[in-house]
Amino acid sequence: LHVIHIAAEMAPVAKVGGLGDVVTGLSKALQKKGHLVEIVLPKYDCMQYDRICDLRALDFVIESYFDGRLFRNKVWVGTVEGLPVYFIEPHHPAKFFWRGQFYGENDDFKRFSFFSRAALELLLQSGKKPDIIHCHDWQTAFVAPLYWDIYAPKGLDSARICFTCHNFEYQGTAPASDLASCGLDVNQLNRPDRMQDNSAHNRINPVKGGIVFSNIVTTVSPTYAQEVRTAEEGQGLHGTLNSHSKKFIGILNGIDADAWNPATDTFLKVQYSANDLQGKAENKEALRRHLGLSSADVRQPLVGCITRLVPQKGVHLIRHAIYRTLELGGQFVLLGSSPVPHIQREFEGIANHFQSHDHIRLILKYDESLSHSIYAASDMFLIPSIFEPCGLTQMIGMRYGAIPIVRKTGGLNDSVFDVDDDTIPLQFRNGFTFLTPDERAVNSALERAFNHYRNNRESWQQLVQKDMNMDFSWESSATHYEELYEKSVARARAASR
Ligand code: ADP
Ligand code: GLC
Repeated sequence: LHVIHIAAEMAPVAKVGGLGDVVTGLSKALQKKGHLVEIVLPKYDCMQYDRICDLRALDFVIESYFDGRLFRNKVWVGTVEGLPVYFIEPHHPAKFFWRGQFYGENDDFKRFSFFSRAALELLLQSGKKPDIIHCHDWQTAFVAPLYWDIYAPKGLDSARICFTCHNFEYQGTAPASDLASCGLDVNQLNRPDRMQDNSAHNRINPVKGGIVFSNIVTTVSPTYAQEVRTAEEGQGLHGTLNSHSKKFIGILNGIDADAWNPATDTFLKVQYSANDLQGKAENKEALRRHLGLSSADVRQPLVGCITRLVPQKGVHLIRHAIYRTLELGGQFVLLGSSPVPHIQREFEGIANHFQSHDHIRLILKYDESLSHSIYAASDMFLIPSIFEPCGLTQMIGMRYGAIPIVRKTGGLNDSVFDVDDDTIPLQFRNGFTFLTPDERAVNSALERAFNHYRNNRESWQQLVQKDMNMDFSWESSATHYEELYEKSVARARAASR
């Protein structure tokens, strides 16, 4: 198959969170299975250019329509993690991708509807005939209606459209009239069965457009797929998802087993594996030294947490766990940052309070290299999310021998099984879970983990080894996507006969 992803993120060059990891991990896995996979991204000024190989400008420009005019786009091509990637650089006076950040601009709706159209224009003008165009999240959900309304009629008609929603909290809604900029027909689309937001009649919802106009709709875990079909957790889209339920499925993400491998990870002080845990202990010591934490007490587990600090992640429970860990005599390292000013300020306050404390350290920024060191150093890894579409950090943590302590929701519920739950076969039990999103439940899970760590060293070590050997690679999830793609392509071929 020829698969083209159109996305706003791709690890490691343009990553904000898990979306970037997934675009790269899924693409690599599909490429390994023999498919031709290409990716289209905006050419952001703030990308990690040193990780793009052979970047060069193509010798043609593509013209794309926006706000009633044609704009010229320079197209660059390069290789990221062995994958061919096209980068679109618009010559538009608003300098859409020259903002020093990926998202969070007032005109994000314009920036990404522009990009979605320019990406399709690139496919059309360069004569590509993909079998699958796969778009992700609200930023590129515009691709689905644009494809059927404008590009299939123009001749880019070989493809089936797959839309993956990584988080239904972010829907990118905007006043209906804003949709006209990218050339879509507002009167046609601002209807309850199309792109009209389910709670505001004069607003357009790109995610709803992705659901309605795609052939395949996925989200990133089976449990989350069930949750978002309920009124409580569907973020207003449960009705839409239920009416399109035949094409909607949850597939658990994998992790990129090459990028996240303690045996080869060059960010680490010492590489290690499940058979040689001495290296893990050395990484813990190295991190403690690096962060100025006290060292060498075997009764002191280190709890790690690496996250965007947003309400979804249970920030109040993370804050509580920091203090509770201190009371229990453990150490806590948090790496995170927040786009929400009052949360960032609150955590800056906590970071300052513990500035020279020898048990607690908060590092409030994005830092890829430090994230690897923390996964390697942590004995336990905390994820008390209020909701979690998939979550990758529990899987990465396990690969590095950090035992997850998680709230049972979304993808956490599909990947972490409590060591004390005897309804689950022993070989799958890999962490500590709790259900109620409150401090008591966090305390109880933390205390169970601490007791296990302190009172049963041998069985803890076996748990660490078991978790490190669990397979969370993309292999089986990519096979799921492959089957969905193939079925959809076969259906389209049968229908056109
Ligand atoms: P989400 O996509 O909701 O943020 P995920 O668990 O799917 O959550 O993915 C988060 C990804 O981002 C992981 O790869 C994690 O290591 C990384 N990450 C999150 N915060 C930071 C940070 N401050 N520094 C470095 N990496 C981070
Ligand atoms: C979103 C979700 C996260 C998921 C990631 C990758 O950011 O919040 O749970 O793991 O996308 O699919």
